[in-house]
Amino acid sequence: MKIHKTADYETMGRKAADIVAAQITLKPDSVLGLATGSTPLGLYARLVERHKAGELDFARVRTVNLDEYEGLAAAHPQSYRFYMEQNLFSKTGICPGNTHLPDGLAADPAAECARYDAVIRGFGGIDLQLLGIGHDGHIGFNEPGGHFENDTHVAVLTPETIDANKRFFTSAAEVPRRAYTMGIRPIMLAGRVLVVVSGVDKADIVRRAFSGPVTPAVPASILQMHRDVTLVGDEAALGKLL
Ligand code: GLP
Repeated sequence: MKIHKTADYETMGRKAADIVAAQITLKPDSVLGLATGSTPLGLYARLVERHKAGELDFARVRTVNLDEYEGLAAAHPQSYRFYMEQNLFSKTGICPGNTHLPDGLAADPAAECARYDAVIRGFGGIDLQLLGIGHDGHIGFNEPGGHFENDTHVAVLTPETIDANKRFFTSAAEVPRRAYTMGIRPIMLAGRVLVVVSGVDKADIVRRAFSGPVTPAVPASILQMHRDVTLVGDEAALGKLL
């Protein structure tokens, strides 16, 4: 695993953007696995800047996001589709047909999971997968459990995740209880994985994920078994890494 420790959140975003930009430059039709949450916002802002400066062409880039809340329409301000449109897609000239997220309003959840796995398989896999880490060790919405779930599934969010994500909603009661998430298999089959972490509140889970045992109780710990992981984090988040 390569580790880049940065002074702060701002530098973390720049370093991570360097890595994503290099991926797109080297392979303009890259399949990017994308993440949401607060941590990648700086990275996305830097990518938008580079696109606006004429340095980065997204015309042929293809994307598959990790997850989407069940029950939220694409136009809902807290849907991950909305987040991606606001923070990246609408500002980079990416072809709308090349962007993929699970459909939070799908009538048949099992069929939607199968459809999403087929989308990823149809791409021949992911070139670079971007990940944040939840406080409970989740990646995407792969929550702690008794086994690693390989395929796209509907996850029941843990109380810790609902608590962490309530800041985006009016109240915890409004946070959807379930979400579609990519499974562990396409993440582990991705050519490269880029993990971004920031803040002292992530220091314990970063240590458990990368210095502790590999266990489905800490889903991010499976990344220890991936052959090409780059961890970009600020000093606060990496402070307890052994
Ligand atoms: C959310 C998302 C994850 C994200 C994680 C961390 O629940 N489903 O994809 O990586 O939690 O979010 P943040 O970066 O806001 O801490």
